[in-house]
Amino acid sequence: AIPHKVKLVDVGPRDGLQNEKQLVPAEVKIGLVQRLQAAGLREIEVTSFVSPQWVPQMADNAQVMAGIERRPGVRYSVLVPNMKGFEAALPSRPDEIVVFASASESFSQANINCSIAGSIERFAPVVEAARAKGIHVRGAMSCTVGCPYEGEVAPEQVVRLAGLMRQIGVQHVGVADTIGVGTPRKVQKALEAALRHYALDDVSGHFHDTYGQAVANTLAALELGVWQFDTSVAGLGGCPYAKGATGNVATEDVVFMLDGMGIETGIDLDKLVDAGLYISDYLGRPSQSRAGTAIARK
Ligand code: HMG
Ligand code: MG
Repeated sequence: AIPHKVKLVDVGPRDGLQNEKQLVPAEVKIGLVQRLQAAGLREIEVTSFVSPQWVPQMADNAQVMAGIERRPGVRYSVLVPNMKGFEAALPSRPDEIVVFASASESFSQANINCSIAGSIERFAPVVEAARAKGIHVRGAMSCTVGCPYEGEVAPEQVVRLAGLMRQIGVQHVGVADTIGVGTPRKVQKALEAALRHYALDDVSGHFHDTYGQAVANTLAALELGVWQFDTSVAGLGGCPYAKGATGNVATEDVVFMLDGMGIETGIDLDKLVDAGLYISDYLGRPSQSRAGTAIARK
């Protein structure tokens, strides 16, 4: 049955902004987080503790984490690629860390400069240390449908990666269509692959909208009972190591769909649209959210 409640994680401040060429000041990122929580988001992916040589936009990670006004009941998560990133993140007191691996070897090399197996080896001590401190651990699985270097990715590769994540103690996995080539049945296969190792409550969808399929893919995931999704306000985003990929599915578009279906999100769509306009205005370009644009025009 289709879930009657959905949890959205807004990844706009992290996935959304990491690809911006021009440095966005920390105050603007903090302002975005503030507006997202005011709109009712209960989980926000704030930043990443990755190498500033690799992703300069996230170099202000600690400053952003220190500047946000924490609300009870909101979970603030950060990406960490290795022990160095985890140790750098700790003073910021993240509620959750996200380790990230790829279902395809070439993307693993391009994104984190190591093999899939090597990345799992790197994550194992990070996961152990985080869990020992009571920090929740999510695992992002990239390229679960297609890879920018290898083309189609077989569900078996996703099964394998999810199994490795499980083995090292990752508590939840996100099934990512990094380059947005997925269509509903393919995305369902990728999710089913993750569900071989994880319970329904521990699997989420992370769909980029490059080919305009992400809302359809979200509905396809709902049909499987998946009820947690990463989305990005104003449809911001992309990955510097996945050339041509556009942003995540816009949070506004997903909330509009869910509202229309009577599925609860706890998010105030008008306030969310304001958050989208705030960051789009700063970046000086129109929002990528269709619903956000339509609502703002009224
Ligand atoms: P490397 O160059 O192989 O790392 O990069 P290294 O261990 O050899 O270290 C090289 C230098 O980086 C050293 O500095 C380290 O100290 C430093 P030096 O001694 O030369 O001065 N370093 C760090 N500095 C700060 N924070 C760190 C860190 N680690 C090493 N954590 C590494 C390997 C993983 C670090 C690098 O490849 C990296 O940072 N990659 C991150 C790329 C990234 O952020 N991609 C985007 C996020 S993933 C994504 O968007 C996908 C997702 O949305 C899901 C989807 O859509 O698919 C999640
Ligand atoms: Mg992504």
